[in-house]
Amino acid sequence: MIHYSQKTKNFTLISKQTQLTLAVLESGHLCTMYFGKKIGEVDLNYLLAHQRDANYMAFADGIVDFQPEILPLTFPSFGHPDLRTPAFQIMHENGNRISDFRFESYKIHEGKPPLKGLPSSHVSGKVQTLEICLKDQTKEEFLFLFISVFEDYDVMSQHIVFENRTAQSVVIKKMLSLNLPFLQDHYELVTLGGAWGRETHVDVRQLHMGSQGIDSKRGISGHGQNPFVALQEIGTGEEHGEVYGAGLVYSGNFVATAEVDMHENVNLQLGINPFDFSWTVLSGESFTTPEAVFTYSDQGLNKMSHIFHRFIIDCILPPLWKNKERPILVNSWEAAYFDFDRPVLLELAKASAEVGAELFVLDDGWFGQRNADNSSLGDWEPNEEKLGGSLESLVEEVNNLGLSFGIWVEPEMISPKSNLFEKHPDWVISCEGYTPQLSRNQMVLDVSREDVQEYIIEKMDRIFSIKGISYVKWDMNRSITDAGSLRLEAYQQEEQAHRYVLGLYKIFETLTTRHPDILFEGCAGGGGRFDLGTLCYTPQVWSSDCTDPITRLSIQKGLSLFYPSITMGSHVSAVPNHQTGRITSLETRGAVAMAGNLGYELSIPDLETSEKEEVKKQIAFYKKNRELIQFGIHYRLQTVHPENEKAWMKKSRNGKMIYVTYISILSTPNTLPKRLRLLGLEEGAYYKNVETGERYLGSELLNIGLVLPKITSDFSSAEWIFEKQ
Ligand code: DGJ
Repeated sequence: MIHYSQKTKNFTLISKQTQLTLAVLESGHLCTMYFGKKIGEVDLNYLLAHQRDANYMAFADGIVDFQPEILPLTFPSFGHPDLRTPAFQIMHENGNRISDFRFESYKIHEGKPPLKGLPSSHVSGKVQTLEICLKDQTKEEFLFLFISVFEDYDVMSQHIVFENRTAQSVVIKKMLSLNLPFLQDHYELVTLGGAWGRETHVDVRQLHMGSQGIDSKRGISGHGQNPFVALQEIGTGEEHGEVYGAGLVYSGNFVATAEVDMHENVNLQLGINPFDFSWTVLSGESFTTPEAVFTYSDQGLNKMSHIFHRFIIDCILPPLWKNKERPILVNSWEAAYFDFDRPVLLELAKASAEVGAELFVLDDGWFGQRNADNSSLGDWEPNEEKLGGSLESLVEEVNNLGLSFGIWVEPEMISPKSNLFEKHPDWVISCEGYTPQLSRNQMVLDVSREDVQEYIIEKMDRIFSIKGISYVKWDMNRSITDAGSLRLEAYQQEEQAHRYVLGLYKIFETLTTRHPDILFEGCAGGGGRFDLGTLCYTPQVWSSDCTDPITRLSIQKGLSLFYPSITMGSHVSAVPNHQTGRITSLETRGAVAMAGNLGYELSIPDLETSEKEEVKKQIAFYKKNRELIQFGIHYRLQTVHPENEKAWMKKSRNGKMIYVTYISILSTPNTLPKRLRLLGLEEGAYYKNVETGERYLGSELLNIGLVLPKITSDFSSAEWIFEKQ
């Protein structure tokens, strides 16, 4: 529900359990009075009564003590007179960077408008959008704030459109998507970060005065930081405490900061990174920011995750894929790397079919002269000599084994050793006079160019049209350095990074529309582009190149804060693990991989017979419980020794089935098994352990918990399935 009161000049936006209240002050400044638990439509203007009591701030409009710097401004500008970090900045032809946008008008729409050139959430259930128009006091410049309320999901979203109706062009130096002010700072900042092979580890830090946060300048959202951020009340846990979470529907350079000002208030900001960014808006043109989505939980992190998971499945993933179960795949990468021929592939495919896998994925190395990572990116012609015939015939042979066929591509890249580079050296992202630096022996195509976009679309379309290809892994194996475009004008060079992302979205949009039945899996050297922008096109993402189950515990836990299990590619690989050298049991590798979309990434033909039997059992178990695992409600469970023990459970959407996983990292001598309390069960209902037949009351499992097994070795795991009676 969205309502505007003429009397109080308050906008009240209410979902089932949350509320956002904005107010238009007499001066026309727009303020965010409240965001949090639903309180109902009340006049909140009194909240600003003391805001004039601060000292040493500049006044606005010549009114003594009217100090916008201490107001919770919804979309603050800089220097007129607010001196906090602004949400945007616009430079004019005369060099002026001051703006003064005040309330002009509003509209309420049913549903929500699409975003020009950008992916965004789609409507599910009751959605209304508040469009607020702010106008600069001296110029024909307009800011439109679009705030959508997804009533049934308890999620709100916001994007901004800037319109230049002046006769001159202007330069946007900064234009964020969201600025969320809070009238206190008693919070911790929660972010997800790491590096290649150890992405999305949860990081929690207490807020201090000044600005703190994360960003990406890597051209992609990146392994280092993820475009998700939350503020949590100090002391928040999985089941208690207030949390405000936000994510950006964007796959490029971003910034997420929390700035604590001099009066212990905090502004949470999220949007395109203003570093190395500017955008010229010609007279009569506009600029649209990506969409930010945000929510509030009054019951800790698990509830925030549940809200986002439901929303991402229903409103972010391509509608055709949102309810589709995902196949169990076998991927050739860690099984063979570049070293294969047709017999090797067919042997792997045959063994995969025998253990019950459903999809065979041919990873890197099938095209051009690509027998190592130093050539052929861009030359998307199958290497028929290596494949022992045409790609079409290989697909057919694999299909005949009862497996569907998937293929790896990395379309945004170009190898210096490639026909494409010989023909189009100017297609590379580079700055005049500098030879672009290599990473993994490759350079990046300037995807902001239309000719490059057309080339990629044409080449990929040809491959994706091969009969029998039902899955595509879309990889991207380096960050973007030397950001510049040989085609853009000098004044547009700082637009390159954003233009790249827009170009990528155009390619994704075209190819996914032409091939709606193909399951796309996003990937950027693992989880380097795990974000909501990517998920609008690829309903799942390869979470990390590290398949070691112990490292995966932190990666997958971090992902689960924001992203639902159905988006998370999760594979069993060989031991010793290729990244960590760790030896873990097949049981534990399976248990951890079964938190997401299960796959195998090892040479199945090389397994012992007993191991093959175990893989068969794992696959059979997964098939039986696939709906529960992929779409169940995911709870992170509290363990007695959180550093050494991890546990989670999934509850089917109808509440009938429960799947619990417990992992102990290092074993400790002379300990007695403790108990693991479950969550989200019905107190008075009975739950039957499907394997042993034992029955427990929901209240027992909630308050006493499951008795854990005695742990006698490192990297142990235990799993339980319960059925509600
Ligand atoms: C990086 C991916 O994350 C891997 O899974 C694999 O596809 C390689 N690229 C192939 O080059």
